[in-house]
Amino acid sequence: MEKVIEEQKQGTSLVLDQRKDNTKKLFIESYGCQMNFSDSEIVASILANEGYNTTQNLEEADLVLVNTCSIRDKAEQTVRKRLEQYNAVKKINPVMKVGVLGCMAERLKSKFLEEEKIVDMVVGPDAYKDIPNLLKDVNDGRDAINVILSKEETYGDISPVRLNSNGVTAFVSITRGCDNMCTFCVVPFTRGRERSREPQSIMEEIKDLYKRGFKEITLLGQNVDSYLWYGGGLKKDYDKATDMQKATAVDFAQLLDMCATAYPKMRFRFSTSNPQDMHEEVIHVMAKHHNICKYIHLPVQSGSTRILKEMNRQHTREEYIALVDTIYRIIPEISLSQDMIAGFPTETEEDHQDTLSLMEHVRYDFGYMFAYSERPGTLAARKMEDDVPEPVKKRRLQEIVDLQQRIAMERTKRFVGDTVEVLIEKTSKRSDEHWSGRNSQNTTVVFPKETYKVGDFVLVKVTDCTSATLIGEAVGYSEMQ
Ligand code: SAH
Ligand code: F3S
Repeated sequence: MEKVIEEQKQGTSLVLDQRKDNTKKLFIESYGCQMNFSDSEIVASILANEGYNTTQNLEEADLVLVNTCSIRDKAEQTVRKRLEQYNAVKKINPVMKVGVLGCMAERLKSKFLEEEKIVDMVVGPDAYKDIPNLLKDVNDGRDAINVILSKEETYGDISPVRLNSNGVTAFVSITRGCDNMCTFCVVPFTRGRERSREPQSIMEEIKDLYKRGFKEITLLGQNVDSYLWYGGGLKKDYDKATDMQKATAVDFAQLLDMCATAYPKMRFRFSTSNPQDMHEEVIHVMAKHHNICKYIHLPVQSGSTRILKEMNRQHTREEYIALVDTIYRIIPEISLSQDMIAGFPTETEEDHQDTLSLMEHVRYDFGYMFAYSERPGTLAARKMEDDVPEPVKKRRLQEIVDLQQRIAMERTKRFVGDTVEVLIEKTSKRSDEHWSGRNSQNTTVVFPKETYKVGDFVLVKVTDCTSATLIGEAVGYSEMQ
């Protein structure tokens, strides 16, 4: 299945429970990864205490915030177009203020205030708690900018409001930042060094969600397998921790085990796993718990060892294949998905063939595939020429997408005839009479509603499928109900 980061959700504006005494209106829109959507919930929660209710009507907003993405040039261009639209509205409504949040704010910093005059406020991903002060600066006519990156997990104490929620599935952040320095990637620059959140505060947030009836949690981070809590501080400073801190440290396998054990009636997912940090221990914890979903997003980027080295991915093709083989051995029913980049500098036809053959070997259920986009400031941009011609990049990307689609179709078919466990999330897009949910392996399943309701765990007998959706009939509740 071809899918570009939740494309249908891009630019969604968010609305939450309205507070009666709040008089000002906030319009907040998010682009990019799930972490941005999750951060916007934190921002809305901070601003709810400052007198703002959210609105979906841009024209009536006092404050417009856009949470931005820098991962590829296209993502930035989309936001620039959006800023032009805000500017047009601002001409009609001059009291409206506009703020840029997230990775573009961090990357472009004061350039936004100097060059793009339509912006009143620039706030990097670690500075959202400063927004109330920055708003005062805006009102006093001062430049309002805070792009300081933090050394601590910044928002552990904020209970995010759940925006546009189905009341069933929620994301919980466990790490911020990334230390991996893949040479193509802007994230280490825009989101800073890697920090893990205190397990206690993660467990508190999950407890709160459980009490409110949520049934599925996705633990979120740029690199979740690298999670390590030893009393605070950066991941890279772990060497300096005391013996006591090391003895009581909590890693990702332990955190996952804690979650699944404490809440046996909730499902757990996680994203994203970096192959170099994914250890066998995590796979064993997944196998041990029925309520940890059997799905791993395991980006690889390329099937060529030479390209992987140029990307600074810290593993070879063979090591990746060995990891995948281990995962299939321990959890045969697992689904895997990839991120792939076509046309990284110096990529030859042979490297590209290595990518296709790796995909044939791994047999991913889903894929997120991109043409290489040079990002200013990254090592690849500084040291390598973006030398694969655009038409070649496009052709290779298309071959990757076509192959993924073929494999996905074959993988989806394997469930036909099986009975799968589904958590009901919403009404199916195609039919009001059908529910839609996902099985443990993350494949969408639709079936007649009968008397079941949103949030139920049901067993569905699969009778048919399209390329990415299973079709079936409920045969009763599952043991998770
Ligand atoms: N660890 C992160 C990865 C964030 S970037 C996570 O939580 O998912 C998501 C994907 O975007 C990467 O895996 C990569 O495939 C793609 N990507 C990143 N930088 C890119 C670039 N410069 N050009 C094209 N694709 C890129
Ligand atoms: Fe980017 Fe690599 Fe980290 S893709 S987010 S630097 S793991």
